[in-house]
Amino acid sequence: MCGIVGYIGDKDVVDVLIDGLSALEYRGYDSAGISVVEDDKITTIKAEGRLDNLKNMIYSRDKINSQIGIGHTRWATHGEPSDVNSHPHVTARLTLVHNGIIENYQEIKKILVEKGYKFASQTDTEVAANLIDSLYENDPIAAIKKASEIIEGSYAFAIIFNDILNKVYATRSGSPLIVALGDNEHFLASDVPAILKYTRNYILLEEGDIVELEKDKITLYDKNLKIMKPQIHEATWTLEQAEKSGYEHFMLKEIYEQPKALLDTVESRIIEGLPSFERDNIDDDFFTGFNRIEIIACGTAMHAGMIGKWLYESVCRINVECSIASEFRYKNPILSKDTLAIFVSQSGETADTLAALRLAKSAGVKTLAIVNVNGSSIAREADYVIYTYAGPEISVASTKAYSVQMAVMYLLVFKTALVRKLIDSKKASEFVGQLLSAIDSVNDALLLSDEIKEYVNNFLDSSSIFFLGRGLDYYQSLEGALKLKEISYIHCEAYAGGELKHGTISLITKDIHVVALTTQEHLASKMISNIKEVVTRGAKVLIFTKKGYEVDDSAYKQCIYLPKLDDMFMPIVTVVALQLLAYHTSVAKGCDVDKPRNLAKSVTVE
Ligand code: G6P
Repeated sequence: MCGIVGYIGDKDVVDVLIDGLSALEYRGYDSAGISVVEDDKITTIKAEGRLDNLKNMIYSRDKINSQIGIGHTRWATHGEPSDVNSHPHVTARLTLVHNGIIENYQEIKKILVEKGYKFASQTDTEVAANLIDSLYENDPIAAIKKASEIIEGSYAFAIIFNDILNKVYATRSGSPLIVALGDNEHFLASDVPAILKYTRNYILLEEGDIVELEKDKITLYDKNLKIMKPQIHEATWTLEQAEKSGYEHFMLKEIYEQPKALLDTVESRIIEGLPSFERDNIDDDFFTGFNRIEIIACGTAMHAGMIGKWLYESVCRINVECSIASEFRYKNPILSKDTLAIFVSQSGETADTLAALRLAKSAGVKTLAIVNVNGSSIAREADYVIYTYAGPEISVASTKAYSVQMAVMYLLVFKTALVRKLIDSKKASEFVGQLLSAIDSVNDALLLSDEIKEYVNNFLDSSSIFFLGRGLDYYQSLEGALKLKEISYIHCEAYAGGELKHGTISLITKDIHVVALTTQEHLASKMISNIKEVVTRGAKVLIFTKKGYEVDDSAYKQCIYLPKLDDMFMPIVTVVALQLLAYHTSVAKGCDVDKPRNLAKSVTVE
């Protein structure tokens, strides 16, 4: 949801900013822009659309000679994607880029208009820029601080003031921002991949921090304007992990990285064959300290939460609610002292999930985050954090992050059951062994790629595809439908097998495509009946089932056999097939697989 970068040093700033923006383009690609200090003035270049448009504009003009600048890649919130709404925004006395949403921008704008300020764009950002401009009396820190007391909403800003062209200023509240340290140079970025080409050392800005960057000096102020000693972190991700490495798309690379990501996440939490969260500083007492669970997340992460709900309820018999974060935060949730609230997030920055976490904390509930990005806001604010080790996920459609979130759910459930003596060590170790076999079987599921690729040719003219499943397969249907629709733009809907006939079956007509999951042996005969119901009405059905299960061939157009695992572990391999289905459809339709329209990977606004 918008990416910002900044640089001050000896390097060619255009190259550094473009590299950073390329790495952050997953955060939004409605427009891009840079402002650089050249010949004692600020030059701003911006272009609607993908970063390539900006690059063409920059590289077709005279070479810019500059070593200081800021840049932005936009996911439009206020104001349509257009040149004028693109960042950076320029005022009489400063130039600014922004990630976030200024909620009270209308009120602020009114006051500024009365003071004579004029606005060219429809953005909240232009208002913030002019607010800081109006408060500026030759002291950038004071002006930024005063603005922060007026602004409501979320922001990360990078700013250059016209009269201080040798410094870059930045601040954040609610949106992420890091300062990275090179050799006689400093960088600003919304996320770590943007700086990996140049350095691995970085500082995480805390809420309300303001930073003044010079080539050879950082002055960091906390929200009370106290000067702080920066705490330097070292990135655990590598540049290679954040590159395509020969794959045509990040999504395909990330699908194929799943066996490793799963093993990295799981193996480090197995001690002598049993699940252990010691390395996450979570001891056994933790697992007896709750009687109900709330799992809260958005999008794909929420689907991983649903698998967690199913596992907890069936193995531990603990009551679990799984909520969409944006609903949870406004529903006055029941949060009793015996509740454990689990927050699932790849980025650790999703605005609604973060707000839900804060709500749960304020209610005094114990909070646990399952997060992929080190040092992200959700990871920092939760009482406990379990990191997934998927590495950087660049494709907007989430794949490996989902799989590792599910894997953590399995381990958590096994550990809870073991500590509560619902299962003994022998059973727990058997479960762990089955989880490891399931991970190994992901390699076999990947071998289905060609078969799936061939099948998707059937989808090319489809306007609607329905996904059906029961039990765990229903949750995987939700994820499969989301994946396919977000990157192929074909309308997809997931239904519980038994539910379709309560309305939606009226949409099933001749040649409508249905993807049916029948990997759950105890529900298979029921699913087959549901499949027959749609076949009778002319649907063309693709079935995913597991090896060894015989399906009557009058029930399908094609049946694809997944590796055979115990029902409980089938989601680990089923999702891989569904990801491949979405990927190959998107490619066959000529869509932009990694950057589907209108979407952004990290949703830092509500
Ligand atoms: C966006 C992404 C999804 C992701 C969701 C939650 O919508 O496109 O892939 O599942 O946000 O993101 P999070 O980072 O919290 O997992």
